[in-house]
Amino acid sequence: MLEINNLSFQYSEESSRLFQAFSFKAKCGETVLVKGSSGSGKTTLLNLLCGVIPKVIPGKLSGKITINDHDIKRQKLSELSPYISLLMQDPELQLFFPIVEQEIAFGPENFQVEPEEILSRISTALKLLGIEHLRYRETVNLSFGEKKLVALAALIALDPQIFLLDEPTAGISSQQIEYLKNVIKTLSENGKIFFIAEHQGELLDLPHLTIDLDDSGAI
Ligand SMILES: Nc1ncnc2c1ncn2[C@@H]1O[C@H](COP(=O)(O)OP(=O)(O)O)[C@@H](O)[C@H]1O
Ligand SMILES: [Mg+2]
Repeated sequence: MLEINNLSFQYSEESSRLFQAFSFKAKCGETVLVKGSSGSGKTTLLNLLCGVIPKVIPGKLSGKITINDHDIKRQKLSELSPYISLLMQDPELQLFFPIVEQEIAFGPENFQVEPEEILSRISTALKLLGIEHLRYRETVNLSFGEKKLVALAALIALDPQIFLLDEPTAGISSQQIEYLKNVIKTLSENGKIFFIAEHQGELLDLPHLTIDLDDSGAI
């Protein structure tokens, strides 16, 4: 379970407060759509939930975020990543390896997952997203949408409890959006929690809760 308690945030003294002490709870299997106009704080919220803010990007934060009753403030990013992982708005920023398969293997390798299990996770993730044909391709030559799906496949192979997806439908085809919806459905039926920043409304037909940042974080 992920719980947000009285969260407020400012990047600096001069910048305005992004969240007015808002609270929210997401339980296993729930999907949360984070809505709001451009600049309303969707990306900021996802970065707060995975600890990137304030651990990497500084800012003034009050309130508390807990995962399974543990305050994330007390945990290192490396301790958090098996529980909560972020698909960034720009996939270029999270692809580091020359070949797709290496990219997807990296996360589970880091957590000492057995090699056979890693190969099986790679196949499963690629199949779920309908991108098995990209397995041996060079990441640098992929389209924006393909890069996004490969970055998501890497997250799936890591198998976190909570997925944070920042604008996952931007730049991908309508057929790829269908795959994405199926992935979210399948994984949430297995208890995974999704927080998805979305301003295009492409995922509204999934069962979901809403955080609307244009409405001071009201539910
Ligand atoms: N690293 C940063 N430092 C200072 N201000 C930032 C930073 N990142 C974003 N902002 C500002 O915070 C506000 C929310 O941005 P963001 O979370 O990216 O919104 P969204 O994802 O909804 O478009 C915007 O006004 C943006 O300019
Ligand atoms: Mg954003």
